[in-house]
Amino acid sequence: MPDWKQKRKVVLGITGGISAYKTPEIVRALVKSGCDVEAVLTSDGEKFVSPMVLSTLAGKRVWRQSDFLSDDAGWKIPHITLADWADVVIVAPCTAETLSNMARGAGKELLCSLLLATGAPVVVFPAMNVNMLNHPATARNMEILKETGIIIADPETGSLACGYEGKGRLPSVEVILEEMWKTLCPSKKLEGKNVLVTAGPTWEFLDPVRFLSNPSTGKMGYAMARSAWYRGASVTFVHGPAAFSNLSGFDVKSVVSAEEMKRTVLALSEEMDYIVKAAAVGDFRAASFSDRKIKRANADAVTVDLVQNTDIAASLGERKRQGQTLIGFAAESHDLLANASEKMKRKNLDYIVANDITASGSGFGTDTNSVRLLSRDGSADEFSGTKEDVAERVWNRILEEDWLL
Ligand SMILES: Cc1cc2nc3c(=O)[nH]c(=O)nc-3n(C[C@H](O)[C@H](O)[C@H](O)COP(=O)(O)O)c2cc1C
Repeated sequence: MPDWKQKRKVVLGITGGISAYKTPEIVRALVKSGCDVEAVLTSDGEKFVSPMVLSTLAGKRVWRQSDFLSDDAGWKIPHITLADWADVVIVAPCTAETLSNMARGAGKELLCSLLLATGAPVVVFPAMNVNMLNHPATARNMEILKETGIIIADPETGSLACGYEGKGRLPSVEVILEEMWKTLCPSKKLEGKNVLVTAGPTWEFLDPVRFLSNPSTGKMGYAMARSAWYRGASVTFVHGPAAFSNLSGFDVKSVVSAEEMKRTVLALSEEMDYIVKAAAVGDFRAASFSDRKIKRANADAVTVDLVQNTDIAASLGERKRQGQTLIGFAAESHDLLANASEKMKRKNLDYIVANDITASGSGFGTDTNSVRLLSRDGSADEFSGTKEDVAERVWNRILEEDWLL
């Protein structure tokens, strides 16, 4: 985990919306990520979720409205102390009532006074009935808050607790945490930049039920994409068949074969400032595809002729435009540096991330990686750690942000 994610101090404001029942899970996930959490409930928030459950999961007391105008804490005025302590304040869920209170600068609730007093970034997750969300008053309140620099996360669309279908759902715990990390990420160097990342394997079908592939899980590509997103990039994530638990914030293109990935990437390449080719694209496909399942009964042995797929990285290298940065990945089983360096030059890449897939804790499927980052200007850096750490370091090196880890 990068330094900037460690031991962050989070105030979680909880208001009186039905989705407050999900807040114990938010507290749990924050604590699991190493955050110190102070939960602050509005008077009505308490009616929707138990303070005892929250305090048990946070490992400390929670703050209730009854603590606000009480002298139990002595000189420690709760709304000021918490406002100054926080690295970030999240309000999840945030009701229409609290949005309205915030927009007009009301301070009757402990949470609202804290929000007025804090200098920390504030991320708000509105959650309510779709008509309440679309009401001009709510829309206006959200606009006012955005103008003051408060981040308003988009509610999700789906079935709402009130029985309606539409926009207004509280996003999942993963999405809430990612929005928080994005807010806390100290680098915004990719703001205004378009970044395309490819990830995962490709499937090259021989017949309707069989394909050639590889064990890539797409974790390294995902980490590169997420790290770029934290830094403010617009991320297009082109992935082959692999399971990802949360692709929020990305423009997702899901493909199956190498040829499909090639078409998708090349169609988008012109507008991209950075292209990260982390997918394990199949080099070969069957020379001919059998429409019918190849039957075992018909032969003791089957010979499959393979032909080469188009080299996507090389095609990108050929059409690379001024100001575009191409970052390739090379998974090698031998002569790591020589092979990777040759690949970088031949394909006209700016960087290549070389990893030895035979080393333990490195390569396909693992959560860790150990890589060499080679650049066209001849530099060579070595990074190991979780795939998230490695991705952070690779971006730091490319963007020359040595201070970020
Ligand atoms: C069962 C129930 C569910 C509610 N769910 C929501 C909700 O999801 N979003 C919302 O904005 N208001 C919701 N409300 C209305 C708020 O509870 C009400 O406006 C309350 O005063 C909010 O106060 P607070 O923002 O200070 O916590 C709900 C009310 C009830 C009775």
